[in-house]
Order: sequence, then C-alpha cells, then structure tokens
Amino acid sequence: APAKTEDFAQSIPAGVYAETVLDVTHYTDRLFRFTMTRPQGFRFRSGEFAMIGLMVEGKPVFRAYSIASPAWAEELEFFSIKVPDGPLTSHLQAIKPGDQVLMRKKPTGTLVLDALTPGRRLYMFSTGTGIAPFASLIRDPETYEKFEEVILTHTTRDVAELKYGFDLVHEIQNDELLKEVVGDKLRHYPTVTREDFEYRGRITDLISSGKLFTDLGVPPLDPAIDRGMICGSSAMLKDTKELLEKAGLDEGANSKPAEFVIERAFVG
Ligand code: A2P
Repeated sequence: APAKTEDFAQSIPAGVYAETVLDVTHYTDRLFRFTMTRPQGFRFRSGEFAMIGLMVEGKPVFRAYSIASPAWAEELEFFSIKVPDGPLTSHLQAIKPGDQVLMRKKPTGTLVLDALTPGRRLYMFSTGTGIAPFASLIRDPETYEKFEEVILTHTTRDVAELKYGFDLVHEIQNDELLKEVVGDKLRHYPTVTREDFEYRGRITDLISSGKLFTDLGVPPLDPAIDRGMICGSSAMLKDTKELLEKAGLDEGANSKPAEFVIERAFVG
C-alpha cells in the first residue's frame, strides 16, 4: 500500500521534487497520461526529459520520462506505457489525483530545437509513447518560428493507441492562442501496424517506399530543407536513423547541431 503523505514527505530524497498529481487519463490497458504540479523555478526546454519516480517499498524508483507539456505550461504532463511488472510503471499506473510523484531536479535531452540547424520542414517521427516530447514541441511557438512546416508522424499497434495524438492536435486547433501561431503549419500523420486503418504500416517502411511523401504531397527527404527528430523503441530509432542518413542527413547534438536528433535515453 502507498505510504501516507506524512511518511512520504519525510522520506523524499535530497535533490528531488515531490509534486502533486492533478489529473490521470487511461487510454488503453497499455497507455495513460497524467499531469502534475510544476515546481516553482523548474525550467526545461520543450522536448527534454526528466527522471520521474515513486517511493516503492521505501526506496525511490526512477525512470526517464519526456515532458509532454510545452516549456510555457503551468502544469507538467507525461504520457506513459504500463509495463505489468515494470519497477516503476506497475506502480505509477495506479496514481490518482492528490498523490505525490517524485522528479529529479535536472531535465535534459537532445530532442530540442537548439540541436538542429535551420531548415524549412521539421519531421517528428514517433512510435507509441515516443510522441511525448513532440506533444511538448508542437505546442511551443518557437517550433513554428523556426519551421515553415511541421510533420508529426505517430505509429502505434492499433487505432486506440493513436487517441492521445488525435486529442492533442484537436486541443491545438481549438486553443485560441495556439491556433493563431500554428495556423496550417502542423500536419499529423498517424499510422497503425496491427489493425485496419486509413494509414497503415511502420514509418520506416513508409519512408522507404516513399508512401509517406506521396501521401503528404511533399518531396523526398532533402538535407538542405528537411530536419528530423526521432523518438521510439531502440529498434525504431536505429532503423529510422539509417534511413535519414541514407537521405544525406547527419545526426546532431546539443554541442553540435545538425540535420536530425534522436532521444537515446528514451526506452519503450
Ligand atoms: P509492429 O506492430 O510492426 O511491431 P510498440 O508498442 O511495441 O512500442 O510499437 C509501436 C509501433 O512501433 C508499432 O506500430 C510497431 O510496429 C512499430 N515498430 C516496432 N519496431 C519498429 C522498427 N524497428 N521500426 C519502425 N517501427 C517499429
């Protein structure tokens, strides 16, 4: 059973924030989203991740989570997988509003606008919960100051797993301030691999075959114009990276901006 708030407060490790859960939404038996309070003075760049944790049997257990809310937001949002025996997610999936969640104080990450050289079109390639850092970036006005077109691809096993992404795009289109900034620059390309749907297949296959570009009515990848960000499982990262490199794009980092970036800390 979770510790009482008083016990919990006494056992919070140093250098860690303890924040209050505000809202929890379960999408499927594998996916959920939650929001929590943002600590005063906590700064991050849209696209970065933080270490999120809980006290489990008296010990803090942490895992890397991309912050899904944009840098300007008052609350912090996260999109999570539920791993049945996962050391953290088996407990995290049971959180309720009012519960406390731990967060280490320093956010970090490579899926940031600063790690890319200037370009015209930004591709965000995601699978599963890999959409989380892009949920942050597509709600950040800076993304649209830097790019004329933003293409968010999201591939999941089935249609139910796409809902978080659809809700997000809907939210942007209905937000008075954001819709002004975003205009028609944001394009959402959802696909599924294990169920019938309008758009089907792994993103890697859709890039290789060129179907992604035909469907969107854009030219093939061009290192002079296109930039990319990739977030998904390690196999997906590796395979997508190979395709971008084949198209002539180079991998960048915070210290050395280039044409595409990958989040290696992200798992599952
Ligand atoms: P598939 O159904 O063919 O495995 P998961 O939920 O397991 O993380 O998968 C999310 C999505 O990522 C699924 O649609 C899955 O397709 C796809 N995927 C898995 N491995 C790769 C890969 N190496 N390259 C591209 N997509 C992948």
